[in-house]
Amino acid sequence: MLTPLGFSLLRQLSDGDFHSGEDLAATVGLTRARVSQLLKQAETAGLALERVRGRGYRLLGAPDFLDAEEIRKALRGFGFQVAAADAKAPLLPAANDDDLALPSGAPAIDPHPALSVEVVDQVDSTSSELLRRSVRRDIHGAVLAAELQTAGRGRRGRVWTAVAGGSLTFSLGWRFEQGAGFVAGLSLAVGVAVIHALEAEHLPGVELKWPNDLIHRHLKVGGILVELNGDALGPSTVVVGVGLNVRLPVAIKRDIAQPVSDLTAVAGRGAPAIDRNRLIARLVSELAGSLATYAQHGFAPFAAEWQRRHAYQGKPVKLLLPDGESVKGTVAGVDSTGALVLADGPRRARFLAGEISLRRA
Ligand code: BTN
Repeated sequence: MLTPLGFSLLRQLSDGDFHSGEDLAATVGLTRARVSQLLKQAETAGLALERVRGRGYRLLGAPDFLDAEEIRKALRGFGFQVAAADAKAPLLPAANDDDLALPSGAPAIDPHPALSVEVVDQVDSTSSELLRRSVRRDIHGAVLAAELQTAGRGRRGRVWTAVAGGSLTFSLGWRFEQGAGFVAGLSLAVGVAVIHALEAEHLPGVELKWPNDLIHRHLKVGGILVELNGDALGPSTVVVGVGLNVRLPVAIKRDIAQPVSDLTAVAGRGAPAIDRNRLIARLVSELAGSLATYAQHGFAPFAAEWQRRHAYQGKPVKLLLPDGESVKGTVAGVDSTGALVLADGPRRARFLAGEISLRRA
């Protein structure tokens, strides 16, 4: 696992030049042996290093480390209001504190909140962290991105694998007046927003796989996890987690249980390296716009485009159900709640995302 010191070493190396073990040790105030140990950990985390006797260490394919200020700058460029770096999220009014309780007729939730951006080197999961924070603080419009997650979570209790410098892992908090039923189709709407962001950054050809996988030529390049805190009737606080493979080392790709690809493959040979700070800003900008639309109109405005972007629309598929059974049929589309509609001859059946997996038949 990478430590904060490991990250400061990697930041020193991020210029892609050679740095001697002595220089690195001096900048971080450690022994050369400790530097070598920390760099071994970086390699285990998926970063490629070159060691040359007499010259030192060099990061191969040096990543552009995430930088909150770069992301804020790009978001302002896209026309968003962005909170200053030192602004603290407001405390939520305590439910049992009359002085703090919102007066009746309190302003509705702002559909276009100022965005706040925080980047951390390492956290268990950006979504878990935002969910924890949401108990005390208002996370409406809060973006939390991490260079490395130590317990990244995928759908259906799976582990989400990402590498420092080669992935994008971030979460965005949002509040809705409505409750769980209303936000049922939100993760599908998020899929459409992510595809728009990728296309705006010259990464075309990514498709959706129900409910919210992002795939390229049938290989997974990213995923979306939407989690909710709140009452059935609303209001609710949602944490939208997005994970994208930007440039995964081959060894890591092999370790992941399903066939995966990355955005570097999507960009194609000879394309410029992906600027992760700009990409995250573009993703957040598309997400913020789509979440505001969703708050007003629900899933309806996204449904037709979602179907167009679905790699399996009109195709034969097999659904793996939680009880181990499977159902075959042809994908007829999704309904207004984001449920998959499967056709078997004249019969139609609806399936809610929950624990179901879709496979090509
Ligand atoms: C999936 O396809 O299973 C969903 C993957 C979602 C991964 C992202 S990475 C950022 C956020 N934090 C997490 O722990 N998970 C989501």
